[in-house]
Amino acid sequence: MPRFQGIPSSAPPASLVYPRSTMKDAKKPRNLERERAQRVLVRFSSGSNILRLATAVQASIGYVPLYVIPELAQHAELTPEQALAHIEQHPPLRLSPPGRHQVTICTGKTCAGAGGANLVRTARQVLGTNLFCTTSDEAIRIEPFKCIGKCAMAPNIRIDGEVRGAMNEKRFKLLLAALAGPSWRP
Ligand code: FES
Repeated sequence: MPRFQGIPSSAPPASLVYPRSTMKDAKKPRNLERERAQRVLVRFSSGSNILRLATAVQASIGYVPLYVIPELAQHAELTPEQALAHIEQHPPLRLSPPGRHQVTICTGKTCAGAGGANLVRTARQVLGTNLFCTTSDEAIRIEPFKCIGKCAMAPNIRIDGEVRGAMNEKRFKLLLAALAGPSWRP
């Protein structure tokens, strides 16, 4: 079965869905994200570049929801599988919500060798999510980044844009715990 067929056509986050007020529409919850994405897409002509379309959607709602891919694909005159493949190959585009906190880990050569690779593994293990993904409570998103020229402080991470050098596993776990809040357990 093609991979894309497993993606639900309408799976908006619960926080972004609310019922309409009339009885007639009570069974048709609105998806505010989709509506915003559709308002973005009408600004583009058919056959537009898929990355331009996806970038515009992400600029509007923070990421590119999977359930919007069919509409993006139609607008770009691609199949959903083709559209998804293009988007997945373009790291700045996100397929999951951005999260309240952005934790990025330098995977440049110096940082990776100085412990950055272990920090990536730690983040994946303790948060239970993968790179380019957001924790299920949307608290933290983890991503890699490439060398920013501060190799002398390796390994470097960034939290919400602030660089923190000479990171070690113990400090990193404490920082993740602080970001995730009291309900989080390493
Ligand atoms: S390799 Fe990480 S800052 Fe240079």
